[in-house]
Amino acid sequence: MRHLLSAADLDAATATSLLDTADRLKEALLGREVRKLPTLRGRTVVTLFYESSTRTRASFEIAGKQMSADVVNVSAGSSSVSKGESLRDTALTLSAMGADCVILRHPSAGAAHRMSEWTPAHVINAGDGMHEHPTQALLDAATLREHLGTLDGRRITIVGDVLHSRVARSNVALLSMLGAQLHLVAPPTLLPAGVSGWPVTTGHDLDAALPQSDAVMMLRVQAERMHGGFFPSAREYATWYGLSEARAARLPQHAVVLHPGPMLRGMEISAAVADSPRAVITGQVSNGVHIRMAVLYHLLASQEAGT
Ligand code: NCD
Repeated sequence: MRHLLSAADLDAATATSLLDTADRLKEALLGREVRKLPTLRGRTVVTLFYESSTRTRASFEIAGKQMSADVVNVSAGSSSVSKGESLRDTALTLSAMGADCVILRHPSAGAAHRMSEWTPAHVINAGDGMHEHPTQALLDAATLREHLGTLDGRRITIVGDVLHSRVARSNVALLSMLGAQLHLVAPPTLLPAGVSGWPVTTGHDLDAALPQSDAVMMLRVQAERMHGGFFPSAREYATWYGLSEARAARLPQHAVVLHPGPMLRGMEISAAVADSPRAVITGQVSNGVHIRMAVLYHLLASQEAGT
């Protein structure tokens, strides 16, 4: 594997080996006072973000630094992008400076794929519009495997704004490949037209789905990608699709609650549920660092790193 552009770049064996590597890195680094491995010394990793981010950008930076790479962060607002430079010219500029890996977040679907045609560097898609966010799916798979033992046969319910969600698209591809049974719950207006071709079941009744779920993944309502009214009001959305305490009580005892963040507390999920023991949201964030270390290792340092 030369790039990680979509969950479809992974087969079950590669995905499982990334999850295993992340587990080993987590074990190796946990509790250590100095969290630094020499693995990527002398390699240059650039994060290039055209959309805002807290978790994804910071965790790629931390992952690179904990493996001793030189990490450079470029964000569109404070770079020549704001002077009108094209993505291609930005790619050529970063390549000319010797970037070994470019981690790209961009509002257009397919941007990471285009970038991979313009640069000799390895490219990681950190979110391209409504399309894909493969490292988020990997960190979600790591978190689910940690709590449920396996993904095989586990019932995962994904709730909310599926239409605009790259997190949902990457998770559907990856989790189904790893054997999970996926159920999507969303208002009819927030399910994509092509969902009938996805390896999922769909519905609109969250109360009915919860007792059947080993895990529930709440999605952020992507207001910035909405032009027009997809639901009557935030309050109405919360009434039907928000994970309140009363609703969460319908989950089986062992079930866990995920959210990729940033969360809209009170709309998608109540504060009480987000802070409850069954919410594994901060665990997702921690696993994100180890998953991104595993991906950087796989692309830049392992024997299999392709040309
Ligand atoms: C997600 C994203 O940006 O795609 N956040 C993340 O990466 N953790 C989800 C979102 O913004 O809703």
